[in-house]
Amino acid sequence: MENINQEGKSSIGVVGLSVMGANLASNIADHGWKVSVYNRSREKTDLLVSQYAGKNMSAQFSLENFVQSLESPRKILLMVQAGNVVDEVIASILPFVSNGDVIIDGGNSFFGDTIRREQELREKGIIFVGMGVSGGEEGARRGPSIMPGGSLEAWKNIKPIVESIAAKDFHGKPCVTHVGSDGAGHYVKMVHNGIEYIDMQLIAETYWIMKMGLGMKNDEIAAQFEKWNKGRLDSYLIEITAKILLAKYADGTFVVDSILDSAGSKGTGKWTSEEILEFGTVGFGFVSAVIARFASAQKKERIKLSKEFPKNSPSKMAIGMEQLENALYVSKILAYAQGYELLNAASKKYAWNLNFQEISRIWEGGCIIRASFLKELEEAFAKDNNGSILTSSVFKKSIENGTSDLRLIASAAIMNSLPVPAFLSGIAYFDSMTNEFLCANMIQAQRDFFGAHTFQKEVDGDFFHHDWD
Ligand code: 6PG
Repeated sequence: MENINQEGKSSIGVVGLSVMGANLASNIADHGWKVSVYNRSREKTDLLVSQYAGKNMSAQFSLENFVQSLESPRKILLMVQAGNVVDEVIASILPFVSNGDVIIDGGNSFFGDTIRREQELREKGIIFVGMGVSGGEEGARRGPSIMPGGSLEAWKNIKPIVESIAAKDFHGKPCVTHVGSDGAGHYVKMVHNGIEYIDMQLIAETYWIMKMGLGMKNDEIAAQFEKWNKGRLDSYLIEITAKILLAKYADGTFVVDSILDSAGSKGTGKWTSEEILEFGTVGFGFVSAVIARFASAQKKERIKLSKEFPKNSPSKMAIGMEQLENALYVSKILAYAQGYELLNAASKKYAWNLNFQEISRIWEGGCIIRASFLKELEEAFAKDNNGSILTSSVFKKSIENGTSDLRLIASAAIMNSLPVPAFLSGIAYFDSMTNEFLCANMIQAQRDFFGAHTFQKEVDGDFFHHDWD
């Protein structure tokens, strides 16, 4: 227990010492801040302080002592399970904190809960920050991307600490910014995760096309991802995909081939899709990526149905690697276009005044979707903050060139019975948004026919009813 800081108070305290909490606490201590740590069960606290090699960590075994060990205004970072647990932990801390103390929720909380908590705690004189943190275990330890919401006063309080522990962007600046008031930080983290879902699904579909449609071996696919990772597709997710494809067990068999094709999810992807439905923005990709996971989870049903509808083995697809790379890259652009459209809608509704250039910048390092692409995105928004990705001069050419290859890849996959919902969602989004005319005149007519719902003849025009019979 030699790490216990006996003299002086801690700059910050961390409650919840599972993987993310323990790693963030160590990261904070590494940067010279005294940090008090507390976990409901003592084992995790003991484990952390016994493993942490530095000097700035103070283990606490009662919440009261934990809170008393912090300098004023106290800063308490909660790294506990999202949901009711956050409310329970806040309630158990409240008796010990004072006016002006700051409670930070660094979990993947639902932004609506964050808005409620911020208001409830403000009424009690406590400053509350909902803070998105991305980067997984390694990011938390070495430098995550951090998305804090809450008031400017709250930001002033936490800025020095969070800036010191964050990853660095392409300019060497910390990957953290004050995103906006109340729930803005958790909202932006939610959309980050929605994009993460699409990105992962796109890469998985690309792997599947190479494996099933082109008959490539795992090491050949890995080599292709490694090559792409040196170009404009350079990203954390492409990098780990190549590594995953090469990982083998002691007996020489590939780990990836032993893993069940059935993926779970914890909620943030679903929330992003729900927000798409709430705002009515054109987010095909978010919904498709979540449903693709649901389809994967129906393994038993798929085994049964695959026997009812046997598939021919896919014939070798007539596609090249350059076309596949183009399709993947343009799909990425289209995914972000959908994500920022949602952010734009939320920013207006909640008066968050989100700064898209800054959001792109803080995603450049540390987070799961980090990619060199974010530099281009930052550049696009520097030219026109909150502008449209679809019309940005930075991406125009890639969109024009990429969409024809995306069509080719998507149709080749369809003809070979390979489901590629993420690729299809990209082209559905692009075609839906870039055609002046869609088939919805028929939808209007049908609604009016069966339900006298009326129809418009021009944008913002009057409503008419036709006597169809
Ligand atoms: C991150 C990740 C992280 C977590 C997701 C996974 O940014 O560090 O997004 O937050 O891995 O919650 O979500 P699913 O379990 O829903 O895939």
